[in-house]
Amino acid sequence: MKFTYYGQSAFELETGGKKLLFDPFISPNELAKHIDVNSLKPDYILLSHGHGDHIADLFTIHKNSKAKIICIAEIANWLGGKGIKDAHGMNIGGGFNFDFGRVKMVNAIHSSSMPDGANGGNPAGFVIYTESKKIYFAGDTALTYDMKLLADENLDWAILPIGDNYTMGAGDAIKAAGFVNCQNVIGVHYDSFPVIRIDKDEVAAKFKNAGLNLQLPGIGESIEL
Ligand code: NI
Ligand code: MN
Repeated sequence: MKFTYYGQSAFELETGGKKLLFDPFISPNELAKHIDVNSLKPDYILLSHGHGDHIADLFTIHKNSKAKIICIAEIANWLGGKGIKDAHGMNIGGGFNFDFGRVKMVNAIHSSSMPDGANGGNPAGFVIYTESKKIYFAGDTALTYDMKLLADENLDWAILPIGDNYTMGAGDAIKAAGFVNCQNVIGVHYDSFPVIRIDKDEVAAKFKNAGLNLQLPGIGESIEL
C-alpha cells in the first residue's frame, strides 16, 4: 500500500487500485506550495472532521475527481446542502464495506464545526481494513482510553497527530501507539502553523527510545506501508 503525504493531516493511501485521500488541506499550507491540488484525482475522500485545516481543498478536489466522500452524518448532510448529495455518512462505531475494503469510524476527542459555523457533528478517526493492511488514522484527537479498544486489531500502521496544542503531542502519541498496540507510526498534524511546530529530531529520538518506528515523510513524498 502506498502512502503519500500532503502536509498537515492530508495524505493519500493507494490500495487495490483505489486512491483514498484524507483531510485535504493543501493549498493554504505554506509548506505544501509545491503540491498541485488539481493533480489529485482520488476515488474517495475521507474527512475526520469539519475544521478548515482538514477540508480546505475538499470542493476543488471533489469537482475534479467526483470522489465519494466518507464522513460523519452531520458533514454529509452539510455537503448535501452545498450540492454534494451522495456523500457517505457514517457515525462513531459503525463500519461499512466499500469496494477497496472496510472503513470503521472510531472516536476522537476534539471538536468539529464547519467553516460557515454549521454543526460538524463529532470528530472521528478511522480504521481502514484492506486485504493487505490495517491502518488507523486517529484524526485530530487527544490521547483517550478508547484507543485501547483497537489493541487487538493487529494494526499495521497508526497515523497519529504529533503537533501538540490542538491535538496530542509526541509524548501522548507515544502512549497512543501503546494503547492501539502498533509499533509503526506516521506522524501528522505538525509544522503547518507556529503553535504546532516541532523539533523533528527530538520527536524522532523520543519515538526511537520508546521502541517505535516513526516515519515523517516529506510533503509530496511517498512511502510503501
Ligand atoms: Ni481540528
Ligand atoms: Mn486540525
